[in-house]
Amino acid sequence: FSSDAIFSGISLKDSLNGRDTRLFSSPEEDSSLYFTYSGGQNKLEVVNLHYEVDTAAQIPWYEKLSEFKMPWEMQSGRQTAIRNLNLRVHSGQMLAVIGSSGCGKTSLLDIITCRDEGGTMTSGQVLINGKPSTPTLVRKSIAHVRQDDRLLPHLTVRETLAFVAKLRLPTHFSQAQRDQRVDDVIAELRLRQCAHTRVGNEYVRGVSGGERRRVSIAVQLLWNPGILILDEPTSGLDSFTAHNLVITLSRLAQGNRLVLLSVHQPRSDIFQIFDLVVLLSSGSAVYCGPAREMVPYFTALGHPCPRYCNPSDFYGDSVDNWWLLLLYVVPF
Ligand SMILES: Nc1ncnc2c1ncn2[C@@H]1O[C@H](COP(=O)(O)OP(=O)(O)OP(=O)(O)O)[C@@H](O)[C@H]1O
Ligand SMILES: [Mg+2]
Repeated sequence: FSSDAIFSGISLKDSLNGRDTRLFSSPEEDSSLYFTYSGGQNKLEVVNLHYEVDTAAQIPWYEKLSEFKMPWEMQSGRQTAIRNLNLRVHSGQMLAVIGSSGCGKTSLLDIITCRDEGGTMTSGQVLINGKPSTPTLVRKSIAHVRQDDRLLPHLTVRETLAFVAKLRLPTHFSQAQRDQRVDDVIAELRLRQCAHTRVGNEYVRGVSGGERRRVSIAVQLLWNPGILILDEPTSGLDSFTAHNLVITLSRLAQGNRLVLLSVHQPRSDIFQIFDLVVLLSSGSAVYCGPAREMVPYFTALGHPCPRYCNPSDFYGDSVDNWWLLLLYVVPF
């Protein structure tokens, strides 16, 4: 043992005895809910969804001309992006759509929020509180946080939120109420320590990547939506920051919101936080149900998760090879 190892062992022990707990907690840890959703219960349903994309349609006509083919000779590249998908989620729950790259996570979130482009919904429907999803209904009830952050880099975090509060909150809100809402959101997303820091982007140095993701969520949370949809909110973050972010989202779900997010392959402690999981493979839901029942479900089918192995990694990798499992899709 080196003296360093012994020294760090002692300091860790002392820390655990309570001398320096800051080592194991984020600077602004707080489990209270500042900002709960006071509207009614929300329910989101996807029924028998079948979605096809035409990959050939993306190629512009002038490029097709260069192939010297007659229009009837040009092949269409139809590909099924989502196959017969069913899911149901309501307020207070956090549902994670997981699966390997290209399995259809973004397509699913885009269809739900009426932002799908270049594809056709051949059958099925998306219901928000029992009503078919339309762009107007989506704008009123769903906050969609996209994978890329679209923020003004030269504003500070507080200025960004104050600006959005001016534009997005109803006109009957007084200035004091708007300021209060900004304060609540900053507290909820633990952004107090960087509230006066510039947001920045890849050219302008500003807040950290994780903080910027939280600012993007804060911008949407400001108008207090009942349904929050996030496309890969943890991508590009280190695992500790990703874990903290998912805990924040879980708290938002506990505050009577419906949270739906896509994640590539979450680490095991993140996976445990989810209430419901949809595991996609080439557009089909291979598992669709409570997160804690996913491992027993696959184990019962004769595919136990090896010890010390992350279930989302193991099943995410293997599921593409188990085409037989597609027969066992569980609707919930
Ligand atoms: N508009 C489109 N035109 C052509 N192909 C599309 C279109 N939309 C989706 N696809 C195809 O559908 C499949 C699913 O795409 P999608 O973006 O949903 O995957 P993903 O699960 O989000 O992947 P990633 O984890 O890499 O973001 C891919 O094979 C993609 O190429
Ligand atoms: Mg995607």
